[in-house]
Amino acid sequence: MRLSRIIMAGGMCAVMASGMAHAGDSVWDKASAPSTEDQKPLDITVYYSQTCGCCGSWMDHLKKHQFNVTRMPSSDMEAVKQQHGLPAGMGSCHTAVIDGYVIEGHVPAGDIRQLLKDRPSNIAGLSVPEMPVGTPGMEMGHRKDPFAVMAFDQQGKSSVYKQYKDY
Ligand code: CU
Ligand code: CU
Repeated sequence: MRLSRIIMAGGMCAVMASGMAHAGDSVWDKASAPSTEDQKPLDITVYYSQTCGCCGSWMDHLKKHQFNVTRMPSSDMEAVKQQHGLPAGMGSCHTAVIDGYVIEGHVPAGDIRQLLKDRPSNIAGLSVPEMPVGTPGMEMGHRKDPFAVMAFDQQGKSSVYKQYKDY
């Protein structure tokens, strides 16, 4: 199987779907996945570029975990990220808003649920910077790159929220 090609330019991305795993095969969507602990429906608004295939795959991941997704296609994702106070270095493709928190990039559904459960006041949002292969919506065959979910605060300070090494 040919590895998918990822193109990122100016905060936008396009994934050639040739090597993408079938959605049903994703480790993130199995019953035992860490992202299925709570099934309460949650409303989330997702700003994304329509030319970005992986944004749609991430929204599919959210829907499988009982998120009600409001889709907000945008042709200027840089502006969206600025409006929502995304710190430098935290950028990925899509930018989502849920209950006052900003969610950037391919953050697993379970981590969003954890954030909303704990409601930490010192966290403005979560991000998986760039687009690591293996994250929900970025599945490519069996390749699973280690990645971290980062938390950032209102001042733009970031710290590791959760680390994924073996998943
Ligand atoms: Cu992406
Ligand atoms: Cu995206």
